[in-house]
Amino acid sequence: MTGRVAGKTALVTGGASGIGQATVRLFAAEGASVIVADINEAAGAEVAEEVGGAFLPLDVSSEVAWIKTMERIAALHPCLDILVNNAGISPHDTIEDFELETWRHVHSVVSESVALGCKHGLGLLRRSRASAIVNLSSVAGMIGASNYASYGSAKAGVRNLTKSVAMLCAQRGYPIRANSVHPGSIDTPILDADKEKYGERAITAREKSIPLGRLGRAEEVANAILFLASDEASFITGTELIVDGGYTAR
Ligand SMILES: NC(=O)c1ccc[n+]([C@@H]2O[C@H](COP(=O)([O-])OP(=O)(O)OC[C@H]3O[C@@H](n4cnc5c(N)ncnc54)[C@H](O)[C@@H]3O)[C@@H](O)[C@H]2O)c1
Repeated sequence: MTGRVAGKTALVTGGASGIGQATVRLFAAEGASVIVADINEAAGAEVAEEVGGAFLPLDVSSEVAWIKTMERIAALHPCLDILVNNAGISPHDTIEDFELETWRHVHSVVSESVALGCKHGLGLLRRSRASAIVNLSSVAGMIGASNYASYGSAKAGVRNLTKSVAMLCAQRGYPIRANSVHPGSIDTPILDADKEKYGERAITAREKSIPLGRLGRAEEVANAILFLASDEASFITGTELIVDGGYTAR
């Protein structure tokens, strides 16, 4: 088997749609054995079948579900080589109008989920010769956006948590690297709520704000994830890779 992640076993959360789905396809094309995990069982199973991979139902905000997922993987594979914590939601709120219940839900799905994935994934990742965690943060976790109060807060948490994981693994001599990827505006179903609420002008406004003049494609983020997940990035840990068409460069 040839390919940039040939022979590796990879778990991709949120693999049923958008960036996760593009990552699943790319990993499979590059020789990985891919496990798709998602709360959307029908779409997740379809993507897994398409690439000859496995599907596991998973609500990433549930610790019990994470434990069960890792047990199921351990029963089938000697180790895990790649964990992509990608599943997410991105509702809008501001510091003036957020509801505490929603705030907690967003943090649970967006950042606690990543902590749980890393915590319960370390055991299987440690059994690999060289493994990698790639956590999906966002440019919203690096710069302020008034209408992404809870999401930006949770994604900033993912950025720093990733560095903690990287430092722990380095200190303890685990063969695990951990990095975060920070997409800007990428054309996936996560933008559908924006389109519904504000119409096409939400998209044209976004496009105008991006130096490269367009939204990104899911495949362009998947390429960055693949690089960090592969052994090509063997000396890269605790860092962040921005994929935003230049949005944060100004
Ligand atoms: N698209 C963008 O513009 C953009 C920008 C920055 C960051 N991101 C991040 O990239 C990641 C992927 O987003 P996307 O654009 O592909 O969105 P998407 O909506 O297309 O896909 C998200 C996937 O996560 C799954 N999911 C949601 N809640 C879940 C849960 N509790 N448990 C398991 N699965 C769950 C969904 O079913 C879906 O398959 C997210 O973390 C998102 O925050 C996206």
